[in-house]
Amino acid sequence: MEMISSEYCIMLLINFKWIHVIQSAAVLAVGQPESYSTGGVGDILSQSLLTLTPSTPSITHFVNDSFIIFCKTVQKDADTKWRDPRGLARENTKGRVHIEKKTGSLALVFEHISLEDKGNWTCEVDSAAVREAKRSFELLVNQKISFGKTEQVQSVREGRDAMVNCFVKGQPMPEVSWMLNGEHINTVNSTKHRRLSDGLFIRNVTQSDAGEYTCRAMRITPTFSDSDQITILLRIQHKPHWFYNETLPLQYAYVGGSVNLSCDAMGEPPPSFTWLHNGKGIVGFNHRVFMADYGATLQLHIRNATQFGDYKCKVANPLGMLERVIKLRVGAKPIGPTRFQLKRLYSDAFELDLRTPRMFNVSDEMQIFGYRVAYMSDTDFKYSAGNWSHAKQRDFSFHRGHRFIIPHLEGNTTYLMRAASRNLAGLSEWSNVKIFATAGCPSWKPHSWCFHILMPIIGLAFIWR
Ligand SMILES: *[C@@H]1O[C@H](CO)[C@@H](O)[C@H](O)[C@H]1NC(C)=O
Ligand SMILES: *[C@@H]1O[C@H](CO)[C@@H](O)[C@H](O)[C@H]1NC(C)=O
Ligand SMILES: *[C@@H]1O[C@H](CO)[C@@H](O)[C@H](O)[C@H]1NC(C)=O
Ligand SMILES: *[C@@H]1O[C@H](CO)[C@@H](O)[C@H](O)[C@H]1NC(C)=O
Ligand SMILES: *[C@@H]1O[C@H](CO)[C@@H](O)[C@H](O)[C@H]1NC(C)=O
Ligand SMILES: *[C@@H]1O[C@H](CO)[C@@H](O)[C@H](O)[C@H]1NC(C)=O
Ligand SMILES: *[C@@H]1O[C@H](CO)[C@@H](O)[C@H](O)[C@H]1NC(C)=O
Ligand SMILES: *[C@@H]1O[C@H](CO)[C@@H](O)[C@H](O)[C@H]1NC(C)=O
Ligand SMILES: *[C@@H]1O[C@H](CO)[C@@H](O)[C@H](O)[C@H]1NC(C)=O
Ligand SMILES: *[C@@H]1O[C@H](CO)[C@@H](O)[C@H](O)[C@H]1NC(C)=O
Repeated sequence: MEMISSEYCIMLLINFKWIHVIQSAAVLAVGQPESYSTGGVGDILSQSLLTLTPSTPSITHFVNDSFIIFCKTVQKDADTKWRDPRGLARENTKGRVHIEKKTGSLALVFEHISLEDKGNWTCEVDSAAVREAKRSFELLVNQKISFGKTEQVQSVREGRDAMVNCFVKGQPMPEVSWMLNGEHINTVNSTKHRRLSDGLFIRNVTQSDAGEYTCRAMRITPTFSDSDQITILLRIQHKPHWFYNETLPLQYAYVGGSVNLSCDAMGEPPPSFTWLHNGKGIVGFNHRVFMADYGATLQLHIRNATQFGDYKCKVANPLGMLERVIKLRVGAKPIGPTRFQLKRLYSDAFELDLRTPRMFNVSDEMQIFGYRVAYMSDTDFKYSAGNWSHAKQRDFSFHRGHRFIIPHLEGNTTYLMRAASRNLAGLSEWSNVKIFATAGCPSWKPHSWCFHILMPIIGLAFIWR
């Protein structure tokens, strides 16, 4: 034990005397004002021994704030200590909450405050003789508003009661209100909506309950106010249904060609898509499936007549399933354009002259219905090392008319072009590559005025594939 200085001993003696005097006074003065109570006087006495800096009786901080409070003694060498809210003495000099000893003061250091630190912390003189010599402060810990594990996309089942979950955290706990697509949701006396501690309850969900829900948390306290919100997309689960009605139950292809069979259906959760050929899974290298959120396109390269037949697309999610059969039949390969030349030249467009003779050996249905034209500028052609996969293309159908215009071209630029015929079974062979150049426009003329009738030299056929 440390030596107690004589000065300190005298103060303790005085201290005891005062307590005796006042205790007897309190006994005599029953019913007198409470300023005479022992506790109050004890505080006054300990004040003379200990002071806290800062000295406010309650101190508010947010989680993760840092904070230091000093307990000062009049006696420079008095032995003091801090007790935590559970009454345990804190003597550690390292850690998140620790003690730093200096002459005449004992600092309590919170490196970053946590929720569990809240409560009354007491600094006291470490002597059984002076029980009254202590000072406390109450630490109030606030926590920022947060939404924890709240999912921003949620889905609920149609025809049932459901919850939009919103897990709000905060200290003090905020009030929560709800909005749907920006409109306030009335939860007072509502049979449809009810506000629960971890979300919004919705009775008998229908498609009209889908949308953007805003979970807004707000709090107003004497010392601060704040708010935060999270937006939740609510999807309503339903069984799959087709995007389009059965449009093409019958499709055609030819051996050596390729065809796309598409299957598009909505569903929540998004459905799975499976393709079957004549009731079996599709194997081999001659196919590819392009998956999208709400569809799957089967691309087939027809190498063998056994690839014709029935293609079934199965669409399923946990709420239901759909299926559709596309019959893939043998069609005729169209013959390519026999005439492919420039009809009219503009500064930013070409009008093409394309002709293909009628095929007499096939049905009317297999006659060509239009053209596909692929093109790229000579610089793009060089840049892509002559790879036609990088070309732009434009599709023409006769039902839109028999003018074939390639618009939006650069002026005074050379283009490479090729064309193919289209019928229900696919594309013909590509034509030879032709080279055409757009007109250079004299600067003094407005653009739209600037076109030339085709000059025969430009439309030279070019054999380059
Ligand atoms: C407190 O800080 C820690 C680490 O710096 C961080 O992981 C945590 O999210 C913070 N908490 C709050 C409520 O800000
Ligand atoms: C801290 O002490 C004050 C005053 O004695 C009291 O009102 C309060 O309830 C205490 N707080 C806790 C968390 O014990
Ligand atoms: C809710 O219902 C109670 C009792 O039926 C009624 O007194 C109150 O006015 C209603 N409040 C609203 C906002 O409709
Ligand atoms: C749920 O709503 C549907 C459509 O509004 C209605 O037909 C059905 O009876 C409702 N079910 C319940 C249990 O209220
Ligand atoms: C599909 O056809 C049915 C009946 O013919 C019709 O009621 C429905 O609106 C159609 N749906 C679409 C997406 O075209
Ligand atoms: C099939 O679809 C793919 C991917 O969308 C496309 O690149 C290809 O040109 C299509 N084929 C036909 C013959 O339409
Ligand atoms: C087509 O495929 C079948 C089965 O894979 C095979 O037996 C047949 O020889 C193929 N025909 C041709 C022409 O490749
Ligand atoms: C039809 O005739 C064209 C030539 O005019 C030929 O290339 C093609 O193979 C024939 N098609 C069929 C299905 O016989
Ligand atoms: C042409 O480009 C496409 C797409 O970038 C690529 O897949 C293909 O292999 C290329 N073809 C050649 C012959 O380089
Ligand atoms: C067209 O381009 C060539 C070379 O790029 C240039 O020499 C010529 O002046 C241009 N003509 C017009 C009318 O812009």
